[in-house]
Amino acid sequence: MTLREMTVEDLDQVMELERDLFPVPWTREGYFTFLIRQDTMFLAVEEKGEILAYCGVLMVLDEGDVLNVAVKRDRQREGIGRFLMESLIRLAGEQGVTTLHLEVRKSNETAIRLYERTGFARDGIRRNYYTDPAEDAVLMTAKF
Ligand SMILES: CC(C)(COP(=O)(O)OP(=O)(O)OC[C@H]1O[C@@H](n2cnc3c(N)ncnc32)[C@H](O)[C@@H]1OP(=O)(O)O)[C@@H](O)C(=O)NCCC(=O)NCCS
Repeated sequence: MTLREMTVEDLDQVMELERDLFPVPWTREGYFTFLIRQDTMFLAVEEKGEILAYCGVLMVLDEGDVLNVAVKRDRQREGIGRFLMESLIRLAGEQGVTTLHLEVRKSNETAIRLYERTGFARDGIRRNYYTDPAEDAVLMTAKF
C-alpha cells in the first residue's frame, strides 16, 4: 500500500468510488478543477495500481478545509481512513497549516469517530447543509 498525490490519471477510478460512496458525488469536472489548483492537495492510497482511498484539502495560509475522505467499501474498517487522515494532517502541517476544518453528515458516525480519533472536535452545526437526503452538517475543527 502506498500513499501518493492524486493525479488526473486517477480520475476514472476516483469517479467510480465517488459514485459508489456518496449520495451526491463530486463530478469529474469538479475534481479536475480542484486537482489543478495550487492551493489544494489530494492524496491517494494505492495498492497494485488500484486506488483504495483518497482525500483532499483546500489550504489558505495556516488554515485548511478537508474536502473529501473516502475509502473503498470493501476495504473499510482496516485503519486506512485513519492512515489517510493522519497523513493529510502531517503533510498539510508541512505546508504551514495549523488548523483544519471539515463538515460531515450528522448520521455519519463512523466518519465522526474517525475525525475525533485524529484530533477533531465538534464546534457547530449547519442546518440542512446536505441534500439527498436533507441533513444537518456537523462542523469539526482541529488545531495542531
Ligand atoms: C468514513 C470512512 C472514510 C472511514 O474509513 P475507514 O478506513 O473505514 O476508517 P478506519 O478503518 O480508520 O476506522 C473506521 C472503523 O473501523 C475500525 N477499525 C479499524 N481497523 C480495524 C480492524 N483492523 N478491525 C476492526 N475494526 C477496525 C475503527 O476502530 C473504526 O471503528 P468505529 O467505526 O467503531 O469508530 C469510510 O467509512 C468511508 O469512506 N465512508 C464513505 C464515505 C464517507 O462517508 N466519507 C466521509 C465524508 S465526510
